[in-house]
Amino acid sequence: MSADSPSPPFEDPAFFRQAVELGLDVVLLLNGEGRIVYENPAIERLLGYPVEQRLQMSAFDLMHPDDMPAVREALGRVVSGAVDALTMEVRFQHRDGDWRHIEAATRPWVRGGETFVLVNVRDVTDRHRSTQALARSNELLGKMLRSSRNIVSLTRAANGEFVEVNDEWLRVSGYRRDEVIGRTADELGIWGDAPNRERLLRDIRAGGGRLRDYEIRTYPRAGAVEFVINVETLDLDGEPHILMTGTDVTESRKVEAQLRQAQKMEALGHLTGGVAHDFNNLLSVVMGNAELLRDASGDERLVRLAETIIEAADRGAALTAQLLAFSRRQTLAPSAVGLEDVVSAMMPLLQSTLPPSFRVEVEHAAAWPALVDRSQLENALLNLVLNARDAMPDGGRVVIGTGGVQVAPDTHRTLDVAPGDYAFLAVTDSGTGMPEEIRARAFDPFFTTKAPGRGTGLGLSMVYGFVRQSGGDVTIGDGPGGGTVVTLYLPRASDTGDDGAGDAEAEPTGGPETIVVLEDEPAILEVVRRMLADLGYRVLTAADEAALEQVLAGEEAVDLLISDVMLTGSRRGPEIVRAAQTGRPGMAALLISGFPADGAGDAAGRDLPAPILAKPFTRQALAREVRAALRRRRRPAAS
Ligand SMILES: Nc1ncnc2c1ncn2[C@@H]1O[C@H](COP(=O)(O)OP(=O)(O)OP(=O)(O)O)[C@@H](O)[C@H]1O
Ligand SMILES: [Mg+2]
Repeated sequence: MSADSPSPPFEDPAFFRQAVELGLDVVLLLNGEGRIVYENPAIERLLGYPVEQRLQMSAFDLMHPDDMPAVREALGRVVSGAVDALTMEVRFQHRDGDWRHIEAATRPWVRGGETFVLVNVRDVTDRHRSTQALARSNELLGKMLRSSRNIVSLTRAANGEFVEVNDEWLRVSGYRRDEVIGRTADELGIWGDAPNRERLLRDIRAGGGRLRDYEIRTYPRAGAVEFVINVETLDLDGEPHILMTGTDVTESRKVEAQLRQAQKMEALGHLTGGVAHDFNNLLSVVMGNAELLRDASGDERLVRLAETIIEAADRGAALTAQLLAFSRRQTLAPSAVGLEDVVSAMMPLLQSTLPPSFRVEVEHAAAWPALVDRSQLENALLNLVLNARDAMPDGGRVVIGTGGVQVAPDTHRTLDVAPGDYAFLAVTDSGTGMPEEIRARAFDPFFTTKAPGRGTGLGLSMVYGFVRQSGGDVTIGDGPGGGTVVTLYLPRASDTGDDGAGDAEAEPTGGPETIVVLEDEPAILEVVRRMLADLGYRVLTAADEAALEQVLAGEEAVDLLISDVMLTGSRRGPEIVRAAQTGRPGMAALLISGFPADGAGDAAGRDLPAPILAKPFTRQALAREVRAALRRRRRPAAS
C-alpha cells in the first residue's frame, strides 16, 4: 500500500471487509443447505441482482438444473469435511436471461459449531465461449480437409517431414497415414528423380515461399500423378512449415490431349477432303478428255500418249481415294461381315506378301458380325500386316485376333464410339513398338518414318478414316513383347443382316434415251456431255438449278437426270434430284461427286435419292451406272 504503512494492517477487520467488498470476484458464504448468508457487491455485475435481493435466495435459485446434482454432492462433501477445497464450473442465469459460466473455488468455514462454505466465484463465460469457438473451427477445418477433393499436406520446411496429410492425399498416393507422417517425400520417392524435386524447391524459394497453380508430376505408390499445386509457407510454433494443396489433373490432361488429337484429325480431314475433292474434279477433266482424245484419234502415237495420261490420272485418282478414305468421305458399302471369314480369306494373300521369316497366327474368339465394307476391311488388314512386317526387319510373329466387346453407356470410355456391341480385329507384332511421339502422329496423312519411297504415310490414315466412317474406333497399344497392337473396333451388324447390294454388271453401251446433266463446273459438264453423246444418248445440259428447271419444263421427256452433289450457290444435288423427281416417276437419277459419300449427310452413304458415282470416272464406269439407273427406272415402281 502507501509508503508510510509498509505492512498490511492485518489487525484491522475493516481492512478485510473493505478488501472483500471491493473485490471484482464474487465472494459468498453459504450455510449447509446452500442458503446465501453473505455476498459481496460484485454479484450484481455477475448476475444482475443487488446483494439485498440475493440474500433472500439459495445458491441453487439461479443455477442451471443440469448442474444441480453435482453441486449438491460437492457441497455435501465440503460440509462433511470429506474434502478441504474444491473447484468446479457451474452455469447461472443472469437477470437478462443469459447463461453465465462461472468457476467456483470452495472451502469449509466453521463458526460456532456450524460448517459454512466459503465460495470465490469468477465469470469465465468469455473463456468458455472462445474455447467453444476454437473447438468449432477445429472441427470445421478438420471436416473441410477430410471431405476436400484436393490433396493437402503440411511438412516441416527444415527437413521436409510430413506433419499432416488429408484423406485425399492418402487416396491419390496409395499410402497409409502411418507410412507417411514423420517421413519425407524423398524417402517415399514421391518426386521421382532429384531434378524434379530440386526444380520445385528452387521455385518455392524464388516465389518467396509461395507457389500459385504450379504444375508438377509426382510418383507416389499409386503411379504417376499430374498435379496443379499451391504452396504457402507458415510459422507454426516458431517453426516454418510448408502447406501444399493440389488438384489431381492427370485425367483432365489426358482428356484434353484426346480432344486436341480429335480436333487435329478433324482439321486434317477437312483439309485432305477439300484437296481430294478439287483434285477429283481436275482429274475428271483430264481423264475424260484423254479418253475422248484416245477414241477420236486414229493416230497410234497420239493414242499411246492419251493412254499415258489416262494411267497417270488413274494413279492420281487412287491417291485421292486414299485421302478421301482418311477424310471419311469414301463410298462405303457396309454389309454384315464375319471377321473370321475376312481373315481366313485374306490368309493366302498375307502369307504370300510376307517373307518366310514371318509367321502369321490367328486367334479367334466367338463374336458377332460387323457392319462394315468388306473390301475396305481387307484393305485395312493388309495395311496393318504390312506395317507389322516393316516393324520387324528380321522377321517374327504376327498375330491376327478377332473378338467382340460391349461398350457400356458409362461416362468414361477409352473408345470414342456410341455404347453398344463391337466386333474387333487386332493385329499384334513383336517389332520395334511405337514411342509416344510417333503414336500421336501415326494416323496423320503422309506421316511416315520410313525411307523415301518406302512408305507414303497413308496406310494408317486410311484405316483410321475408314473405321471412323464405319462408326468404330482404332486404338494403338503396346504389344506383349514390346511390339505394337493395332485394334479396329467395328459396330456389330444387326441380326436381321443387311446384305451388300448385288452388283449387276451392265454392258457399257448407250441408248436412245434423253439425259440431262447438271454440273456447275463447265469443263466437267463438257466432258460428261461428250462421253454420253459418244455413247449415243441425247444429252441436255444445265449449269445451275434454274437452267435445269427450264430444261425439265420443256417439251422433251427426260429419262435420266445426272447431278453433281456440291453445286456452288444452290441446294445440294440430292435435294434438287428429290424435287425434280416428284411428279416425274419416269425419270431416273444419278449423282456424281468428288466427295462420293457426302450426299445426304449420312456418313455411310445411305439414304441418297440416287446412286452416286465418284469422280473421276471413266466413260465405261459412267456408261455402266447410266445403264443401271435406266434399268431401275423401267422396273415396276411399287410392289
Ligand atoms: N506396327 C507398327 N509398329 C511400329 N511402328 C508402326 C507400326 N505401324 C505403323 N507404325 C509407324 O507409323 C507410321 C505411319 O504408318 P502408316 O501405315 O500410316 O504409314 P507407312 O507404313 O509409313 O506408309 P504406307 O502405309 O503409306 O506405306 C509408320 O511410318 C511407322 O513409323
Ligand atoms: Mg503402312
